[in-house]
Amino acid sequence: MAKKFIIEGGRYLKGEIRIRGAKNAVTKQMVAALSAPGKSVLTNVPEIGDVEITRGILASLGCVIEHRQDEGVLEIDAANLSTPVVPRQYSGLNRIPILLAGVLLHRFGRAGIPMMGGCDIGPRPVDFHLEGFRALGADIEYRDGAYHFTAKRLRGARVTLPFPSVGATENLMMAAATAQGTTEIRNAAIEPEIVDLALFLQGMGAIITQETDRTWSIQGVDSLHPATHRVINDRIEAASFAVSAIATRGDVLIRGADQLHMLTFLNWLRKAGGEFEMVEDGIRFCGMHSKLKPIAVETGVHPGLMTDWQQPLVILLTQAEGMSVIHETVYENRFGYAETLNRMGARIQLYSECLGGRDCRFRQLGHKHSAVIMGPTPLTGAHIEIPDLRAGFSYLVAAVLAKGRTEISGVQYIERGYDRVVEKFRQLGVPISVEQS
Ligand code: EPZ
Repeated sequence: MAKKFIIEGGRYLKGEIRIRGAKNAVTKQMVAALSAPGKSVLTNVPEIGDVEITRGILASLGCVIEHRQDEGVLEIDAANLSTPVVPRQYSGLNRIPILLAGVLLHRFGRAGIPMMGGCDIGPRPVDFHLEGFRALGADIEYRDGAYHFTAKRLRGARVTLPFPSVGATENLMMAAATAQGTTEIRNAAIEPEIVDLALFLQGMGAIITQETDRTWSIQGVDSLHPATHRVINDRIEAASFAVSAIATRGDVLIRGADQLHMLTFLNWLRKAGGEFEMVEDGIRFCGMHSKLKPIAVETGVHPGLMTDWQQPLVILLTQAEGMSVIHETVYENRFGYAETLNRMGARIQLYSECLGGRDCRFRQLGHKHSAVIMGPTPLTGAHIEIPDLRAGFSYLVAAVLAKGRTEISGVQYIERGYDRVVEKFRQLGVPISVEQS
């Protein structure tokens, strides 16, 4: 049954919420648990659709999983895996199947991975993953809509990624943990969620060193053992609510928001006029007296401004006085959601030039990857359809700001990545009604 969110706008967020474990960490750690026969335990697990999808994938491979949702505990028993082939039904739901290549090779010497999907934000190829596995000695064949990997045991190698891809770095890190010899992943991603994966793997017995200059060095071991790990908090969820608080001129204490992992975001928020203060267990964001100002910023890999922070930030900038510029340098097609915001009253124009900063790898390719946002613009309620997860959250914030009623469909995208989102908005004084149709 399709679900809709209905919001009567013109409100502000006030109160306190708690952030939970990061979607983009927990799902990878669920995969990593398969490296060791036995029961691994993850804590601080969020209640999100992507955990459920990943749980389904793991169960289809023979894992026995217990998820105690209220406690945020996930026990994954990977003692008796039954197949190295990910069923086709999981292709297209999220980005997890390709990340199973290394752990399944370790357990079975082969892996069958259907073509994968995720949010509709560009083509999202897997060539870096495939090249990396070939360098580690895997044979890869594509047939009948799936990649088939084989390798008795992977061998350590030096791999230089063409771009610091999060998924390719994680995939190769997990594969290299049990390869023979040492692997160096250069030009690698170093996001906090990847460090968190390295910590979990280390707890399982892996030897992983973070070198300077975006290099991970992994000394392969013969086997890993099960471990218990607390998942890092979700800095995207924290930033999304922070922006919602400021844009709606509200006042929200976000428990679990971690300054260390939000340094870049907080700098840009401050430049845009957003006010915040650190408290014992989180950060308080207060927009009641903020004078919002325009900024010119580009997204980038860590420690740059995350591409997943871009969409909520755009909503904030629709409320700032003057012209802001955002140059998206991670994905070529991540402003598709702007048209709907324009329908609600925003003034956002998209350009294929690299605006406001350096040239990026999308220069002259014709992708509309720069946005100019004129503000402040009042927004008005509308009927809207969500195209992807982060855009979905932005639409929610736009709806809270907008005058009148907004009906949002496609909410399964939001629920894939945001823990108890309806409950949290209600807790902050915004009554979202949920309708099934
Ligand atoms: C992860 O996607 C996240 N997803 C994304 O979050 C996030 O936006 C992205 O990293 C960047 O931080 C998960 O962790 C599940 P990439 P991932 O490989 O790993 C190109 C969200 O909303 N590329 O770092 O798939 C690719 O097309 C999601 O939570 C290749 O060309 O991203 C993109 O332009 C959306 N070939 C760039 O690299 C490859 O083989 C970065 O992608 C791999 C990637």
